[in-house]
Amino acid sequence: MDIDQLIDETVRHYGCNPGDVRVVRSPYRICPMGAHIDHQLGPVTAMAIDRAVYLAFAPSNDNRVRLRSLTFGGEIDFEIDAVPARHEDDWGNYARGAVEAIKSKHTLSHGIVGVTTGQISEGGLSSSAAVGCAYLLALEAANDLHVSAEDNIELDRLIENEYLGLRNGILDQSAILLSRNRHLTVIDCATVTHELIPQADAMPDYSILVAFSGVKQALVSTGYNQRVDECAAAAGDLLRAAGRESRALLGEVTPQEYADHRGVLNGDPAKRAEHFFTERDRVRQGIETWRAGDIGGFGRLISESGRSSIENYECGSEPLIDLYHILVETDGVHGARFSGAGFRGCSIALCDPAKAEAAAESVASRYRQKHPERADNNGVLIARPADGAGIL
Ligand code: GLA
Repeated sequence: MDIDQLIDETVRHYGCNPGDVRVVRSPYRICPMGAHIDHQLGPVTAMAIDRAVYLAFAPSNDNRVRLRSLTFGGEIDFEIDAVPARHEDDWGNYARGAVEAIKSKHTLSHGIVGVTTGQISEGGLSSSAAVGCAYLLALEAANDLHVSAEDNIELDRLIENEYLGLRNGILDQSAILLSRNRHLTVIDCATVTHELIPQADAMPDYSILVAFSGVKQALVSTGYNQRVDECAAAAGDLLRAAGRESRALLGEVTPQEYADHRGVLNGDPAKRAEHFFTERDRVRQGIETWRAGDIGGFGRLISESGRSSIENYECGSEPLIDLYHILVETDGVHGARFSGAGFRGCSIALCDPAKAEAAAESVASRYRQKHPERADNNGVLIARPADGAGIL
């Protein structure tokens, strides 16, 4: 990433003093296990990767936010006291949502000017949360606000749940804000607490393959919210059968209650509950294999998580499922699954670094044979684990 170019563009467009320009790096993330259980208050695992969204910014002299992007056209320009409502498919939504979120808890006096760019525009690596977190960190720095990572997790939740209308959990922003290189980030979404578990000395190094499907679509327009409803239906039936009143979330149902009453569930809600409870177990086992430095065992659990996403959660689109199968069969791959919501974007794999280049080429060419119609938009990136977000 050419940070100097981003700073130069900010100075050129907004006439600010180069010494006042700072840069936020907000990385993309992967989730080895714990897919789609964050919104049901389950535990999840995550890591940040070495590709990121960057935002060069300076405090504005007034209450305006003015932003440009190297990726998207036009300029975002609004006053922090009169934040416009969400516009469909507009890259300015995240900055507007960030201002609204911060204002709900703090006083904002200054806007920002800035220029942003992302290294990856396809879905699946939480680019939305990376962008949201970048604006939060920049606006807070410009206003001298000291906000903890936990509070920023909540602020990004407000951007996504309230401003954008996506009923997702807190996996993405937690991974982006909390992760540290060579650690597994484990987030308990019920208590919003986390643990950073260091990579065991015995754990061999690994690369992260990011295989793009070429399928692009905003998450709010996928089946994401429908799956959340199906989980709620399952939780409601299980709690009723157990004779308990509680919020209709699968995380509120104990494993014993699930074992005793799963027979009341049918169809889609039965499958979503099966995904939740088996995924929760995979997270627990994944933490054990990570602590033991067992990359093979850790990888197998990633692939099992991927299989449950296909069979029980049923969120993969055909191209992503094809990518999953190709990755799992590739030499050097320890484990694979689709990344993010799984409706579009990419599938990821942990891979032996010595075999990563050959694996990437083989995956790209097999996928192109299977989906020639997507040949222009696909490709495989070799990434590494990295630290979470911060101001450089
Ligand atoms: C998206 C959502 C997250 C999480 C994942 C699936 O990235 O934003 O909250 O549910 O999908 O694990």
